Amino acid sequence: MQEIRQIGNVPWDTARIKESIPEFLDLYSRRPLKDNEGGMLSPHMFAAWFMLKNLNPENVIESGVWKGQGTWLIENTLPGSRIFSIDINLGMRKYISPQARYFSRDFSSIDWDFIKDKNNTVLFFDDHQNAFERLRQAGEMGFKKFIFEDNYPEGQGDCYSLKKAFQHSGFDPGQQGSHSIKSIFKNLLTPRRKHIIAPNSSDAAHLENVLEVYYEFPPVFRSKNTRWGDEWNEGNYPTPEALYREAENASLQLFQQEAAYYTWICFAKLK
Ligand SMILES: C[S@@+](CC[C@H](N)C(=O)[O-])C[C@H]1O[C@@H](n2cnc3c(N)ncnc32)[C@H](O)[C@@H]1O
Repeated sequence: MQEIRQIGNVPWDTARIKESIPEFLDLYSRRPLKDNEGGMLSPHMFAAWFMLKNLNPENVIESGVWKGQGTWLIENTLPGSRIFSIDINLGMRKYISPQARYFSRDFSSIDWDFIKDKNNTVLFFDDHQNAFERLRQAGEMGFKKFIFEDNYPEGQGDCYSLKKAFQHSGFDPGQQGSHSIKSIFKNLLTPRRKHIIAPNSSDAAHLENVLEVYYEFPPVFRSKNTRWGDEWNEGNYPTPEALYREAENASLQLFQQEAAYYTWICFAKLK
């Protein structure tokens, strides 16, 4: 199997990504929540900020709000954009954005017809749902541009991702990486068969057909081990080249400390 690492091109390069780090860190130092356990940390906050800023859409739909740090990021990255933020449990919010309109129903059950310019909209999914299915649902509604935060590799994470589809790995919620008590109970309670996706090559072939762009944002650093405790190497976790090998200055240290929280966040664009 020849694994897909990128499809098409993005309108930026590594040099531009690296140059923009000081601007991001200035904004990030003003984040409302210093502890965002369960949500994005510096590697993905940076990736999300950079891609949203460069895509510069008129509308952003965010699915998966949690405490609201991601909504704060979107608001501060795109002060002129409309933001629609969804979470099936909005009760966890600690930051509520004056720029966002909130929804508590699943993305697929909302009538998005009021968004006229679907091409000028980015869908930011951080809701741990099936990304392949999200792409299908949103594509049928006319949306084209996506950021998937939970782009877990084969054998890890609690949802089916585009990366897993490209790795032909399928998805079995009972066999994924975490062995915490919480996840064991969650697995027992999940109607497992409903979520099982058998290993297959057809999902990858479908994605190759429908996607103009698939791009995994590079990690700032790659840690020796992953968050799951095993070695992070190209054989088990193929990854775009990290921006840095060593923290060249103190400002990069946070990225280094949180390097293992990277989960292959990606941009995807339908044809
Ligand atoms: C990882 S958290 C989001 C973190 C957030 N983006 C951040 O960076 O702080 C995942 C969130 O997805 C929400 N969620 C679960 N299922 C969902 C669904 N079907 N639609 C929208 N949100 C959902 C959960 O309630 C949870 O708040």
